[in-house]
Order: sequence, then C-alpha cells, then structure tokens
Amino acid sequence: MNLDMVVRSPRIPGPGENVCGAGFRMVPGGKGANQAVAAQRLGSGAVLLARVGDDFFADFLTGKLESAGVEASLVSRTGERSTGVALIVVEEGTGDNTIVVDPGANMTLSVDDLDALEEYYDGARSALFQLEIPTEVAREGARRAREQGVTTILDAGPPRGVDLPFLRAFDVVSPNQDELSDITGEDVTDIATANRAARGLVSEGVPTVVVKMGGAGSLLVTGEGSWHVPSFDVEVVDTTAAGDAFTAGLATGLGEGMELTEAVCFANAAGAAAVTVMGAQPSMPARRQVQALIDSQGVECTPL
Ligand code: RIB
Repeated sequence: MNLDMVVRSPRIPGPGENVCGAGFRMVPGGKGANQAVAAQRLGSGAVLLARVGDDFFADFLTGKLESAGVEASLVSRTGERSTGVALIVVEEGTGDNTIVVDPGANMTLSVDDLDALEEYYDGARSALFQLEIPTEVAREGARRAREQGVTTILDAGPPRGVDLPFLRAFDVVSPNQDELSDITGEDVTDIATANRAARGLVSEGVPTVVVKMGGAGSLLVTGEGSWHVPSFDVEVVDTTAAGDAFTAGLATGLGEGMELTEAVCFANAAGAAAVTVMGAQPSMPARRQVQALIDSQGVECTPL
C-alpha cells in the first residue's frame, strides 16, 4: 500500500533537469492494494495482507481500501517505518510515467505475518504477489498458497533481480518488458524478443509467463506455445497501475474458470480500461467497463 504523489509534466525530465509540471494529486496506490481494488471491482472478493506506517497516509489509504470493498482487516501498522510512498511523474500527451517507490512499512512484513492468511485459503482461487514486500515473504506466501491448491500469480514489479528458484514458486509470472529484461538479462524491446526471453523462463521450469507489453498488447507463453493479444484502442491518459488492473483481470478470469488465453484477453481489456483514467486506484475499472471494451472491440489471441 503506497501513497502516490502524482504530478503531470510536459515531458519526463532527464537527470538534473528541472521541469514545471501541474495537477499535483495524492492518490491511493501500491501494487498490492491496486490489484485488490481492481479484483474487487471486477467481481472477485479480495483480502489484502499489507503493512502501513503509523501516520496520516495510513488512515487515508486504509479508508480508501475499505470504501472500495476490500477486506482490510489484515492491514497492520508499524511505528518503525513510514507508509510506502511513490513519487510519480506522468507525461502529458503520452500518459507514460516514471515512478520512484519507497515501500517503507511494506518492507517490514515478515513470513510470520502470513499466518493470518490461513483462514482465507479455503475458498480462495488465486493469491497475487508483488515485489514491494520482502521477496522471502512472497516466496513463502506462494509456497503456502500452492500447498492449499490456490493458484499463485506473481506481478513481477518493481524489478528486484529475482532468480529462477524464486520464480518457480509461482504458477503464473507476469512481468512487463523492463521487468522481463531485469529477470532474464535479455534486451526485451518487442514481441519477438519478449517471446524469446519468456520461452527461456518456461524452459527453466516457470509454468506460465504473461508479459505486459503496453501499447503492443500482451504475450502468453506456456509449455504448449505462445500467443499474442493486441492492445485495445483507447485514449491513454495515465498508464500508472494499468499492469495492476491487468494482473487482477488475469486472476479474476482464471478464478472464474476461463481458459488461459481467454483470461489474458480479459486482463488486456482491464489494463486498457485503466489507462483512460488518471491515478492508480481511481483508474481500476469496473467489470462493466471491461466488458464494454470487449463487446465493442472484440478480442483476438493469435498463436505465434
Ligand atoms: O503499479 C503502480 C504502482 O506502483 C503505483 O500505485 C505506485 O504506488 C507503485 O507502487
């Protein structure tokens, strides 16, 4: 759970550059919280295990989570670190962003905190993990969820240099292009290079890789083959958290029993809907928006 401090800028500043921006806002964010809110809006119930600081930001974020309908009773507080904060610059015109995140209190979560999830495995379809918490907590959380028959999905952001044994703990690993480069050490610039890098992970024992490619759509790679799903035609306002909507869409689709290819198409539509609205949690789409996109533009999933 992070407080996002967002400014619009005519361009993303380079090192040492000073740019005059506008439209400062504080919005609820953080990859886990965004995904929980998106899952809830897409029709899945969601419970979030997270930690915030003992500060004003924590009250704001917890209130937003609750008003979105997410079960927030496992959000705990610490006096050791401040609530996570992300400094975000959104480029006007393209909606591209840069983010610097200090996960703060999120990083004080420990493996022992996972005990609180025990009562939720029964009836849960998916467990989503992100890398704004200690990696050992994500790894052990995935081990426990998998043992309980829950599908484990890793949103591999932000880049943390994770290794193959870690990635094999998840049924589905979903990086964006940069994160896939970070994981594999390969230059990922387009569908072909993403496919090669993702195939490498699958051949090393990661069951399913779903790559978020922004305007180029997404890529599904399993032991059975590779499929490309093109992006939807939408007005891009802010790409922040589009990947979170995507991951929640994937979990929702799989949880409802969709085939992998169908779930990736649904996820693609959720990500596309998210880029049309400014801010992380404010942009997490409702089910009807996602369905409207699918109904109006159709979905295509092409084997590579
Ligand atoms: O994925 C988007 C999120 O990344 C933002 O909400 C920000 O908090 C960062 O963690």
